[in-house]
Amino acid sequence: MVGCVVGSLSAVQPGGFDLGALTAIGVEFADPELTSTITTVLNRVEGELLTAVTSADPFVTEAARHLAEAGGKRFRPLLVALGAHFGDPMASMVVPAAVVVELTHLATLYHDDVMDEAPVRRGAPSANSRWTNSVAILVGDYLFARAADVAADLGADAVRIQARTFARLVQGQIAETVGPRDGADPITHYLRVIAEKTGSLIATSARFGAMFGGANPEQVERLAAYGEAIGVAFQLSDDLLDIASESYQSGKTPGTDLREGVLTLPVLYALAADDADAASTRLREILSAGPITDDALHAEALGLLRESPALKRARETVRSYAENARARLAPLPQRPARVALESLCDFIVDRTS
Ligand code: IPE
Ligand code: IPE
Ligand code: MG
Ligand code: MG
Repeated sequence: MVGCVVGSLSAVQPGGFDLGALTAIGVEFADPELTSTITTVLNRVEGELLTAVTSADPFVTEAARHLAEAGGKRFRPLLVALGAHFGDPMASMVVPAAVVVELTHLATLYHDDVMDEAPVRRGAPSANSRWTNSVAILVGDYLFARAADVAADLGADAVRIQARTFARLVQGQIAETVGPRDGADPITHYLRVIAEKTGSLIATSARFGAMFGGANPEQVERLAAYGEAIGVAFQLSDDLLDIASESYQSGKTPGTDLREGVLTLPVLYALAADDADAASTRLREILSAGPITDDALHAEALGLLRESPALKRARETVRSYAENARARLAPLPQRPARVALESLCDFIVDRTS
């Protein structure tokens, strides 16, 4: 059932971070101390995030705050906060590190919605539809600059990691845009794309938490590997939601990938299948023709995909990446933050099953 958890995915409410909504996204908060530190850290992140994007120009401030204030799960700051629990969760650099990853994420959303021509984001009009593509691109650039400024307070290593993460993320977006080379396997290509565009920043979120909490180097690498694997699972589940959800659940416009011709895993599985039944054959016929802009064809393709064996197969792939992420945590000390990180694996599988 897709709806029950995804319906309350916005953890940010007017006035701060809402722990109830956080619990609803599937994080285990059985431990009162964990609950208290995570809430404190994420509330500070909210305040610093809004301060960081405030400009002397009121229009820039409004446009830069637009998506930050619209909500969002704050999944990346949450990973920073949880990763820090393998050292000192209240260490002074944990909050700015979380601000850096959320600002970087926000910037990519401004740009992504231009590329994907997406009209809605976080339940609000995207910046490109509220203003223009040019405004959305420039505000995205502004947010990257603000992220770099905050990262400078964290030291040269953090600046380098953030820059390399962003370079990797952008290369993923470029690889998605240009598609696989002639003769390359499209599924291998796609899995590389999502590791780069999404796994990169989620890995860095977990890494920053561990680093700035003061975990030991082996734990830092383990948490980064966990972030990379759960980041891929997270993107795959987002792709499934683009097919299977209603817009009130995701805060986005479902079917955007099909309209834009972004071939996500369920579509690639459907195209690669050799099932000869009428539904599979018809689905392959529609999908092979490229981006689907005709409304009736779009609705038909979405309907066929929702019932397809390809969608089921993609759900299994989400599960296997989530299990891979969980396995990375095994050598870490058993503590409430680890239980919370494990429960995120369940959340990602559950939101698409
Ligand atoms: C959206 O990320 C882009 C993907 C990588 C799938 P989120 O699903 O974390 O978006 P918000 O931050 O909650 O809006
Ligand atoms: C999100 O990619 C942007 C990045 C990961 C950089 P998508 O286009 O797949 O995500 P949504 O569905 O629009 O959030
Ligand atoms: Mg998009
Ligand atoms: Mg995109």
